Amino acid sequence: MPTKIEKDEVTGVETTGHEWDGIRELNNPLPKWWVYTFYVSVAYAVIWWVLFPAIPFGPSATGGLTGSETRDRVLAEIERVEAERATVRQRLVGAELSYIQDDPTLFTYALTGGRIAFGDNCAPCHGVGGTGQLSYPVLADDDWIWGGTIEDIQHTIQWGVRWPDFEFDTRFAMMPAFGADGILTREEVDQVVDFVLAMSGRADEADPDLIEAGAEVYEWNCASCHGDGGEGMHVMGAPALNNQIWLFGGEREQIWQQIWNPRHGVMPGFAERLDEATIKMLAVYVHALGGGQ
Ligand code: HEC
Ligand code: HEC
Repeated sequence: MPTKIEKDEVTGVETTGHEWDGIRELNNPLPKWWVYTFYVSVAYAVIWWVLFPAIPFGPSATGGLTGSETRDRVLAEIERVEAERATVRQRLVGAELSYIQDDPTLFTYALTGGRIAFGDNCAPCHGVGGTGQLSYPVLADDDWIWGGTIEDIQHTIQWGVRWPDFEFDTRFAMMPAFGADGILTREEVDQVVDFVLAMSGRADEADPDLIEAGAEVYEWNCASCHGDGGEGMHVMGAPALNNQIWLFGGEREQIWQQIWNPRHGVMPGFAERLDEATIKMLAVYVHALGGGQ
């Protein structure tokens, strides 16, 4: 292979002298700035190797002179945040519920933690933000079955309602099956349904004669739990009947069904599943949804 350096006639560029089958290689050197940048990068890489962890070595990597580790920095940061959080959590566990609401740091922390825990544990039944659904009460209104003070709410969350792992503190009350168990006749059930409709502000859907007869049935059989005026009773877990908020539906047929053969809601108790701080955060969060008393 001849190695004669000469000038290419077409481009005027020098050849390298290499030639294959009549094809000659032109000598177009890289621009100087590029070459120097390249050398600087090489030098930089070498310095980096020496100073910082760089070359994979078994399960880890060479340490470098500085011994700097981003992982260490992240771990330190996590530790710092956790320590900070542990103090807030500890204060939360120690604090009275009402005090938490008055302490801006604790309150904000509880609201945030409560919202997350609510999404994980409660939203499937109560809806995101406590909007409720048929058979699962709304938690964002001020109509409470078992009471809406922050202590009441905490109690319900902790011990549940009719939860089969029955604990002394689990909320428990049973509406009798007035029809199915033959406590009332079909006629009396029909009467009291119309009375309940009237009590909830829908007298126009009810028969005045039935309302009158139903009032007596109500007084004898229902008032002890639902209150004389249908205002409900927290200790009995009896919902108010004098409003338009229905747990099991407000259609005539649904009300009839509930009196004939009642359904009973079950709410799990969370005492064993969630720690004390989380239950407190949930109570603060639910109370702040809008209906807390
Ligand atoms: C499996 C479904 C289910 C889950 C999960 C659930 N609940 Fe409930 N919850 C209910 C039912 C049903 C009731 C109504 C019980 C009744 O009929 O008295 C209820 C009642 C309540 C009440 C009382 C409402 C009132 O008006 O007095 C509160 C407060 C409450 N739940 C909060 C929560 C919180 C907070 C969580 C999550 C930690 C949660 N619930 C998880 C089903 C559930
Ligand atoms: C021993 C107490 C008790 C008595 C007596 C009682 N109830 Fe109830 N009632 C309840 C409870 C508790 C519930 C809620 C069940 C639940 O939350 O799962 C309820 C629920 C209802 C509901 C459904 C409310 C809703 O929001 O969907 C209606 C309607 C009702 N009762 C009507 C009556 C009528 C009418 C009588 C009398 C014939 C009566 N109840 C007697 C305890 C009682």
